[in-house]
Formats: sequence, structure tokens, C-alpha cells
Amino acid sequence: MHQTIDLDHIIRLYRAYAGDLDRAREKQRKLLAPPTSLKAQLDDIEAEITYLLLRETRPETVVEIGTFHGWSTTWILQALRDNGTGHLYSYDVVDHVVRNIPEQLSTGRWTFTQGDARENLEKIPDTADFLFIDAAHSASFARWYIRELFPRMRPGIPVCVHDVFHGRRPLPFTEGAVVLRWLADQENTCFTPSRARAPEIHDRLNDVKRTLDLGHPLRDSRDNPMIFFTLR
Ligand SMILES: C[S@@+](CC[C@H](N)C(=O)[O-])C[C@H]1O[C@@H](n2cnc3c(N)ncnc32)[C@H](O)[C@@H]1O
Repeated sequence: MHQTIDLDHIIRLYRAYAGDLDRAREKQRKLLAPPTSLKAQLDDIEAEITYLLLRETRPETVVEIGTFHGWSTTWILQALRDNGTGHLYSYDVVDHVVRNIPEQLSTGRWTFTQGDARENLEKIPDTADFLFIDAAHSASFARWYIRELFPRMRPGIPVCVHDVFHGRRPLPFTEGAVVLRWLADQENTCFTPSRARAPEIHDRLNDVKRTLDLGHPLRDSRDNPMIFFTLR
């Protein structure tokens, strides 16, 4: 039986890992400042949930598609470092990330492959026990990973997909629309902390963070459009 990713579970994780999350957040905050001045994409709550799920599930093999400058990459590597186990395989057509990952995070736990993930399918480990996707936001890219990537992965693994709920609904003919349709066809559900889609959940998580002294924002953007689900 796999743990359902829902609000109660996420609140439990915030409480269980509050101290480690606080330290991880402050390390991430330093990367936003010079000299790294990392250009970040994920908003705070969705990045923190990714960190918390990684801590809870302790994956040995994590796959990340879409690194850009490395904000999600550093969050994921911090969780693996704090777990004391696990390896991250990252894919992107651009290699900006390579300059931005501190050596103490990457050494022994990170492999980056530059190129279109669709042309590197055989290099993506099918033993992945955690999948993070933040790449092209087109319907055709979503159709690719649903048809080609997901069937290679084990059922039960956590999956994160970014940029789904910037509004109450994804625009038609986008990645988000395709993934949500596919989840519905599977009678599967997803969790989102999106401010537009799930304002009560978003506010509740901010309340919980404040009570845990995790309220000081890293980034100004508050959309948190990511979805989280368990692969069937
Ligand atoms: C929104 S950015 C990722 C942001 C990053 N996750 C972060 O937290 O800062 C999307 C990235 O996906 C990459 N990308 C787009 N299509 C891709 C593909 N087919 N294969 C691999 N990477 C791709 C882009 O080059 C870009 O760097």
C-alpha cells in the first residue's frame, strides 16, 4: 500500500522534518545570493514538498527532466545528502546547471546528461523510484512521457510535474491538460499546493510553515503550480 499524497500527509512531513528543512532552506537561500545568484524557477512550497517527499521515501534513484540553472537540482540533491543515500540523474538540453551545483552536493550523487530527454530514453534509468518533470510544457511532450517514459517506471513511485496549475485550470493543449486528462482516465488523483487551484491548501500550508518558523520566503513568486501524484 503506497502513502497517498494529500494535505494531512504533507503537514505531517513539514512537522517531522522541520529542522532539516529549515537548514536546507537557508542553504538554498545562499545560492540565490551572489556569487551564485542562481536563477530559480520552483516556488517555495512546491520545492519544499519535493524535498519532504524525497526525505520520506528515501529513493535510491531519482530522475529529473528539466534542470535549467539548477534550482530544483540543488533542492533534490540537498534531500539526498540529508538522506545519506540516493543518486540523481538529470537531463536538459542546456547545461547551465553544471556551473551552479556546489561540489559538496554533486560529488558521488549526481549524473547530468545534456540533450533532449526524448532522444536519451535508454539512458534514463528504469529503476527510478522518484520522478521529477519540469521541462517542455507542450501537450506533445506530455504525450511522450506518458507513452514512453511512465510505462518503463515502477508503479507506486512519486511523480512531480511542474507548471500545471498557474490558474484554476491548465490552458487547453498544454502539458498540464494532457497529464490531468491521463490521470482522470486512470482514476488517479493528484495533490497541488497551487494558489490558484487550491487556495485553502495553499493558505493552510503557509499557516503550518509560520508555526514552524519556516515562514520567511525564499522567493517572491507564490503560484506553486506543481502537481504530485503516485504512478499507477
Ligand atoms: C522551467 S525550466 C526548468 C527549471 C528548473 N527545474 C528549476 O527548478 O529551476 C525547463 C527546462 O527544461 C528544458 N527542456 C525543455 N525541453 C526539454 C527536453 N525535451 N529534454 C530535456 N530538457 C528539456 C529546458 O532547456 C529548460 O532548461
